[in-house]
Amino acid sequence: MCGIVGYIGRRQAYPILIKGLHRLEYRGYDSAGVALINEAGQLNIYKAKGKVSELESFAADKDINGCIGIAHTRWATHGEPNTQNAHPHYSESERLAIIHNGIIENYAVLKAGLMKEGYTFKSDTDTEVLVQLIEYTQLNKHVDLKTAVQLALQQVIGAYAIAILDKEHPDTLIAARKGSPLVVGIGENEYFLASDATPIIEYTDQVIYIEDEEVVVLKPSATGNQPSDIEITTINNVTKTPEIKRLELSLSQLEKGGYPHFMLKEIFEQPRTLTDSMRGRVNVRQDNIALSGFIDNKDRFLNAKRIIITACGTSWHAGLIAMYAIEEFAQIPVEVEYSSEFRYRKPVINKDDVVIAISQSGETADTLAAIQLAKSKGAFIFSICNVIGASIPRMSDSGCYTHVGPEIGVASTKAFTAQVAALTMLALCIGREKKTISKEQFVSVVRELGQIPQKIERVLEQNTRIADFAKTFTYTQNFIYLGRGYNFPVALEGALKLKEISYIHAEGYPAAEMKHGPIALISQEMPVVVVAPHCGTYEKIVSNIQEIKARKGRVIAVVSEDDVQVRKIADYVIEVPATEECLTPLLTVIPLQLLAYHIAVVKGCDVDQPRNLAKSVTVE
Ligand code: AGP
Repeated sequence: MCGIVGYIGRRQAYPILIKGLHRLEYRGYDSAGVALINEAGQLNIYKAKGKVSELESFAADKDINGCIGIAHTRWATHGEPNTQNAHPHYSESERLAIIHNGIIENYAVLKAGLMKEGYTFKSDTDTEVLVQLIEYTQLNKHVDLKTAVQLALQQVIGAYAIAILDKEHPDTLIAARKGSPLVVGIGENEYFLASDATPIIEYTDQVIYIEDEEVVVLKPSATGNQPSDIEITTINNVTKTPEIKRLELSLSQLEKGGYPHFMLKEIFEQPRTLTDSMRGRVNVRQDNIALSGFIDNKDRFLNAKRIIITACGTSWHAGLIAMYAIEEFAQIPVEVEYSSEFRYRKPVINKDDVVIAISQSGETADTLAAIQLAKSKGAFIFSICNVIGASIPRMSDSGCYTHVGPEIGVASTKAFTAQVAALTMLALCIGREKKTISKEQFVSVVRELGQIPQKIERVLEQNTRIADFAKTFTYTQNFIYLGRGYNFPVALEGALKLKEISYIHAEGYPAAEMKHGPIALISQEMPVVVVAPHCGTYEKIVSNIQEIKARKGRVIAVVSEDDVQVRKIADYVIEVPATEECLTPLLTVIPLQLLAYHIAVVKGCDVDQPRNLAKSVTVE
C-alpha cells in the first residue's frame, strides 16, 4: 500500500510534501521520492531506498524549490525495493513525472506495445509503463495532459491512484483513482492531495474524496479559490460536481482509518485485501486460476514426491490448512513443520522435495534458516510472503506475494486469510495439472473463492454482537478452541489470537481429542469455542458439543447460517455463510479474530502492540 502526497499553491511544496510522507509512514514502505517543478520550469526528481529520512538526506543539497510537487512512499508490488524502482518516475522525455498507488494488471501488454513504439524503461515497475503510455498518448494524439490521462486510464486494468506533473504546465496538478484511495484538501489558494487525510488535516478540514474512475485537475488561481480551480471528470470525460466534505477525525484516528486500533482496521480490510490478493489470479468469468509462481515451475510441483511446509505462528496455521487442501486436491503428501524445529532436527530432505515457506514479514529468522537448510539439500523453495523483496522471498526459487499491504497490528489477521487463499489457489492449480481434482470441483471452488470477500462482509456485520458477548469473558482465565478437518487449524489460530492480545490462556485441539484428556478440564469457568460449520464431520462435532454441555461447559459456536442442531445446544452462536468446505477457514476465522479483539479491548490490553511480542521475529 503506497503513500501519495501532492501540493500546488502559494507555498514552497517540498516541506509540505516531506511532512506528508512522514504522516504516511504508518502505512509501511521500502523507498520514497519527490518531484518538484521549480520557478525556472525544471522538473527535478529525488528518490531514495529506505526511510523518508534517507530521502531528506539525499535531497539536502539539491534544488528543492517549487510551489508544485508530488511525493511517494513505495510498498513494492512490481520490482524490487530500490532507487530505480522508487517513485516518482519520469516519462521518456522527462517532461512528465508520476506517482502511483495500486497494481496495473495488464502492464506487461501495455509495456510490450510501447516498446514496439521504441520506448525504453529504466525500472521494473508497472507505474513507469503508465507514465510512458500517458506521454505516448499526449504526443501521438496531440491532446492536453488531462485528456492523455483519461485516454491512457481507459486502457488500464487494475487499481490506481496517481498524481502527475507536466513541466510545461507548472500551474496544474492532475490526479486520478480507481480502487486506491485519493483525497483532495482545499486550502487558501492552494490544494493538497494524498492517499488519505493524514497529510492534509493540519492545513485544512475541507476535503473532496475522489471516486473511482475520476480525474481531478487542480489549478489554483491567484485571486482566491474559485470553483473552476477544481475540475473533476470521469476517465470518459463526463464532468462531475466536486462534493466538498468536512474532516471530523483526529490525526491518530485517520491513521487507523477511523478504527480504534490497526488490528480492527485490518480485520475489516479483509474483503478488500482478499480481493487484492486474488486480483489477476482468480478469474471467475473464465473459471480459471493463474499463479505465475506455479506456472513457471509446474514440473517441480508435478514431480514432487512430498511437500514440506515450514512456518511459525499464524503462518504455520495457514500451512496446516494448506496440508488438507493439497492432499485433497493434489494428492501429494504434505508435512507441516515448525521452522524452529525443522531447522535443528536434522530432517531428511530430498532434491525432489518442494518446500513451501509461509511468512507475512519475510524476515522470520527460524523460517529463513529452515529454507536455507532445505535449499542446501537441493529442495525447491516456494514462498508465500507479504513483503516484496524481503529475505525469505529473495532466498526462494519462486513464490506468491499476498499483496495485502502492510500489516501493522502485531496479531496477524489479513495476512493469514490471504495466505490461506494463496495456498488454496496453489493446491487447486496443482490438482488441475495432475488431474487429481474434477473439473466440476475445480470450477465450484474457484467460483466460491470469488464470493468469499462479500461473504466475509456478512460475517463482519456481526461485529457489534460479538463485542457485546465478549464482555462476558472479561475475567475468564482459560479457553479451549475445538475444530475438525479444515477447521482444526482455525481452532489453533483462534486460540493464538486470544492468547497473544488478551493474555488469557487458550488451547486449540482437534475436537475428537477432547476424550483423550482435555474433557477433564470442562467446567462452567472455562468456555469452549467450537468451529462447527456444515462439513463432512458436522455430526461428529455436534456430539462433541453435547459431551461438553453434559459437563456444564459453556459453548461459543461458529456455525453455518442454516445450522439447526448446534444452535439448539450452544450458549452463543455466530453464523457464517455456507461455502466450500476447503474455504470455510476464510469465514470461520473472522469471528475468532473479532472475539479475541473485543475481549482484549474490554480487558484494556494494548491490542496493536501486545506485551513481549514483535511483529517480525528476526531473532531465534
Ligand atoms: C501472529 O498473530 C503472530 N504475530 C505470530 O505468530 C506470527 O504469525 C509469527 O511470528 C510468524 O510471522 P511471519 O508470518 O512474519 O513469519
